[in-house]
Amino acid sequence: MAKTLTIFLTILFFTTIVTTSNSQRFSRNLSPDEIGLKREKLTHLHFYFHDIVSGKNPTAMRVAQSNITDTSPTGFGFIAMADDPLTLGPDANSTLVGKAQGIYGSADQKEVGLLMVLNLAFVEGKYNGSTLSMFGRNRIFDKIREMPIVGGSGVFRFARGYAQAKTYWFDVKSGDAIVEYNVYVFHY
Ligand SMILES: *[C@@H]1O[C@H](CO)[C@@H](O)[C@H](O)[C@H]1NC(C)=O
Ligand SMILES: *[C@@H]1O[C@H](CO)[C@@H](O)[C@H](O)[C@H]1NC(C)=O
Ligand SMILES: *[C@@H]1O[C@H](CO)[C@@H](O)[C@H](O)[C@H]1NC(C)=O
Repeated sequence: MAKTLTIFLTILFFTTIVTTSNSQRFSRNLSPDEIGLKREKLTHLHFYFHDIVSGKNPTAMRVAQSNITDTSPTGFGFIAMADDPLTLGPDANSTLVGKAQGIYGSADQKEVGLLMVLNLAFVEGKYNGSTLSMFGRNRIFDKIREMPIVGGSGVFRFARGYAQAKTYWFDVKSGDAIVEYNVYVFHY
């Protein structure tokens, strides 16, 4: 009986060592096809971004500000959280292709320059469930602003590229805006 137990414990001991050493391997080299990566491609996406800050159903709202934000000519220090619809056309009721989710805020005390940290979460066709991560500077009064795409998920794994934003419509009074986006990304 005691012998059986000893054998059992010995097996358990070695099994544990083997499994732990496997699960403790920190890194390894592999070839791209081992994780299904074939050929890198370049994709162009075109859509409209709706940033609605006024009315009964805002899609972006201020969540924090500094004590100088209200007196700063650039609104320095405010931070907003957005869940902004992305549509095929400029009409808010045109086909929804995704949402821009994340934060933006005023990061410049001299000119209007926003820090944008947004995930573009797509729902359209083969892009449904895939995301692109955008992280950049947005001087909203420039005709065209360029922001880096720093990564992605799903069909956009290993993504890198840039987004160009161009204001299509802006209501100074309410702050609501519709922005045309052209996004160029390399991915697999
Ligand atoms: C803002 O807050 C800081 C730190 O509490 C304080 O020193 C400063 O005087 C405040 N500024 C204004 C404009 O209220
Ligand atoms: C979108 O459709 C809703 C409901 O049909 C309507 O109330 C709204 O005015 C439309 N919006 C635009 C921008 O056309
Ligand atoms: C996207 O995927 C979700 C969950 O997989 C599904 O419920 C939804 O209907 C899909 N949307 C479109 C537009 O295909």
